[in-house]
Amino acid sequence: TLNDEGEVSYTSPSNIALVKYWGKKENQVPANPSISFTLTACATTTKVKYKKRENRNEEFSFDLLFEGESKEEFKPKINTFLKRVEVYLPFLKDYHFVINTTNSFPHSSGIASSASGMSALALCFMEMEKSFSGTMSPEHFNRKVSFLSRLGSGSACRSIEGTIVQWGETPSIEGSSNLYGIKYPYEVHGVFHNFHDTILLVDKGEKQVSSTVGHELMHGHPFAQQRFDQAHSNLSKLKTIIKEGNLVRFIEIVESEALTLHAMMMTSHPYFILMKPNTLSIINEIWKFRKESRTHVCFTLDAGANVHVLYPEGEKDIIFPFIIEKLVPYCQNGQYICDRIGLGAKK
Ligand code: PMV
Repeated sequence: TLNDEGEVSYTSPSNIALVKYWGKKENQVPANPSISFTLTACATTTKVKYKKRENRNEEFSFDLLFEGESKEEFKPKINTFLKRVEVYLPFLKDYHFVINTTNSFPHSSGIASSASGMSALALCFMEMEKSFSGTMSPEHFNRKVSFLSRLGSGSACRSIEGTIVQWGETPSIEGSSNLYGIKYPYEVHGVFHNFHDTILLVDKGEKQVSSTVGHELMHGHPFAQQRFDQAHSNLSKLKTIIKEGNLVRFIEIVESEALTLHAMMMTSHPYFILMKPNTLSIINEIWKFRKESRTHVCFTLDAGANVHVLYPEGEKDIIFPFIIEKLVPYCQNGQYICDRIGLGAKK
C-alpha cells in the first residue's frame, strides 16, 4: 500500500532517434518503428509530492511547478496525460499532487522536453503504483513505465532505458511492440558504447508547427506508405550495422532519416519547413569536414532547426575542435550542449 503522504522523484533523459517516428494512429500507436540513442545530459527531474484527499473527486487535483514557478499553461497537457493513464493507475484521483519539474537544459532552448518530461512523470506515478502491487520485476516496471510514457508523448517511451531503445512492431526485431519501447535486444559493437551527441542550438524560438500537428499530417500524405516501409527497412539494415560497427553505413542511414523526416514536412499539406539557413550551413560544413578529415562525424535532426552532431569517442579529439571552431558560430548566442549516449532514467 501507499502512505497517505510522501514524495517520489525521478530523473529521466531525452533521446535522439536514429530511425524517426513520424506519423501515428489512434492511442499513440506509431505508424512506423523507430530506434534511438538514450542521452544523458539533457534530462528532466520531476518530484511528485502526494497527499491523500479527504474524498475522491471526479477531477484530478494537482499543482504544477516548473523550475520552481507555478505553470498554469502546462496543466492541460498534464491533465490529458492523467486522463489517458487513469485506467492503468487507478489511485490517481485519490490523491492531490504537487508536481515539481526542472530541466537540465535551458528553458526554451528549442530542445524538446516532452520525452524527458513525460517519462519522468510516468516514472514517479509508476513508483506509487508499485507500492500497491507489491513486488514487481524491473522488467515489468520498465515496460509499464514505457507504456505509460508513450501515452504522454510517443518518443518518451524510448527514454526509460539505455543505451539503444527500439519502439514499434517490426519483423526484424524480436519482441518489438507498438505499445512500449524495448532495450535493443541484439549485439552492439563497442564503438556505440560511447557515442557523443553535441547539440547545436540553432534556433531557440517556438516551433511554427508542433510535432502533434506533424504526426497528424502523415494521414493522407502522398509519400506516407513509402516512408513507413523505408523505416522498417532501415531498422533491419541497422541491425547488421550496429553489430559490426560499420560507421560509414550508419551515417548513410542516420543522415537520410533526418532529411527524410524534414522532407515529409516539406511535402505534406499544408507544407512547412523547420530547418533554418544555419541548419543547412552546419550540414554542409559537416559534409566538407568529414571528407577532408576521414572521420565519422554525422548529423541528425529532430522536429526543429537544432542539429545533433553524432561521433564516436575515438574521434573526439579531432571532431570536437572542429565543432567549436566551425559549427558553434552558427548557433544562436553560441549555445550548444555536450551530450552522450546514456543508460536511462534513475531515481
Ligand atoms: O514524441 P513526439 O510526439 O513529440 O514525436 C517526436 C518525433 C521526432 O522527435 C521528430 C522523432 C523521434 O522519433 O523522436
